[in-house]
Amino acid sequence: MPRVYLETYGCQMNVADSELMLGKLAAAGYEHTENPDGADVILVNTCAVRENAEQRVIGRLTDLRRHMTRDTVLGVTGCMAQRLGARLLDADSRVSLVVGPDAYRALPDLIESARKGERATATDFDLEEHYDDFQARRFEGVKAWIPVQRGCDYRCTYCIVPYTRGPERSRALADVVRETREVVAAGLSEVVLLGQTVNSWTDGTGDFGDLLRAVGAVDGIRRVRFTSPHPNDFSDRVIAAMAETPAVCEHVHLPMQSGSTSMLKRMIRRYTREGYLACVERMRAAIPALSITTDIIVGFPGETGAEFDDTLSAVREIGFDDAFTFKFSAREGTPATRMPAELTVPDDVVDTRYEELVRVVRGISRERNMRRLGERREVLVEKAARKGGDLLQARSRDFRTVMVPAEGTAIGEYLEVELTGTTGSTFTGTPVPTSRAVRLPTLAVN
Ligand code: SAH
Ligand code: SF4
Ligand code: F3S
Repeated sequence: MPRVYLETYGCQMNVADSELMLGKLAAAGYEHTENPDGADVILVNTCAVRENAEQRVIGRLTDLRRHMTRDTVLGVTGCMAQRLGARLLDADSRVSLVVGPDAYRALPDLIESARKGERATATDFDLEEHYDDFQARRFEGVKAWIPVQRGCDYRCTYCIVPYTRGPERSRALADVVRETREVVAAGLSEVVLLGQTVNSWTDGTGDFGDLLRAVGAVDGIRRVRFTSPHPNDFSDRVIAAMAETPAVCEHVHLPMQSGSTSMLKRMIRRYTREGYLACVERMRAAIPALSITTDIIVGFPGETGAEFDDTLSAVREIGFDDAFTFKFSAREGTPATRMPAELTVPDDVVDTRYEELVRVVRGISRERNMRRLGERREVLVEKAARKGGDLLQARSRDFRTVMVPAEGTAIGEYLEVELTGTTGSTFTGTPVPTSRAVRLPTLAVN
């Protein structure tokens, strides 16, 4: 059997796509390998969202050469493949395949041709494509990534994603439910529904609230998460579905990007500071235990000190449980690159603001976490802790990382723990002795 090695960069959507690609290739007779040495095919599934994501891949493509023989096929897939197309073939003589996110169905054929020495790009968008008939090869032991929407119809002025992923399309509810049943039958009890603006999902009759209720009603599902929603698409109906569906976890990742209305306008985010705050308030009113994480960009063109202060004050006012912070990166072809050059924020200013934002975010998150000490949480044990062989890494419904003792505990188990320590960002949890019953297999596998 020919062997395929695949590396994934970027967001969960790319992880899900990698699982689909490996499933498709397994069906076509390829064996997956975790070692690039001796692989017949090496695929790099790429991200284009920021310049440094692309730089990493370019470096890695060179690196991978030392694992290749003359016959190894090297392919680039994903968002960078879509963005650069044939330019990648010109830039790297060893790359023989460039395949965008809507063209994975052709992957086995394209690889066959490449093994015969051809070089090809496949970057057409396909508005019908959801890979519904692919059997994903899943790597996560306890949760399943389930794409429910592909593409994006927003046009945030900094963002490359609409160009790399194409127009938004939603997958049929029945297909999402079927896949959820399949992953439960395979022994998983958590699903993460994926889409660029996942809560704008619609099949023409129902909305994202209907989808949440349908997935949450699948027998054996204990946790439903989703990422990333757009603040504008949180109707009261969707929020009610979150609150009323017991499996939907008490966590939302709600990208804010900026706390300044004038900045949000330049980003064309389509909400104001007040609109975002109101969205947070509506969600907290419906789901009191909700934890909220976010994405924030620093140094978008024209960012003034006052606008940056608005972001800091919004961060403090909301009290995010955590935030991913990014320095603005100009992406070729996006509207932000056509803004007047004098609006560019100097690097040293960006650096200073970025550090300040990170300091504020960490301080708030530490303070919120300290307050949780002594509380109890149900955690799902996910994997071995990165350091420390005697600890396993678990996650609470409200998305806190909790280290639990490995002894007597298995990956995939639910545990009731008391939060007994925190580094400020992660917790240590002590199993609550009276909770043995929760640790028995409770999955109703149908
Ligand atoms: N679809 C999601 C996120 C897509 S990209 C959403 O709408 O929220 C993930 C995050 O990367 C974004 O939320 C944003 O904070 C960041 N990002 C996107 N483009 C960027 C750019 N050009 N420079 C810096 N950060 C960017
Ligand atoms: Fe990018 Fe905006 Fe679409 Fe998110 S909503 S993927 S940030 S264009
Ligand atoms: Fe990156 Fe594409 Fe995801 S650009 S963030 S891999 S949608």
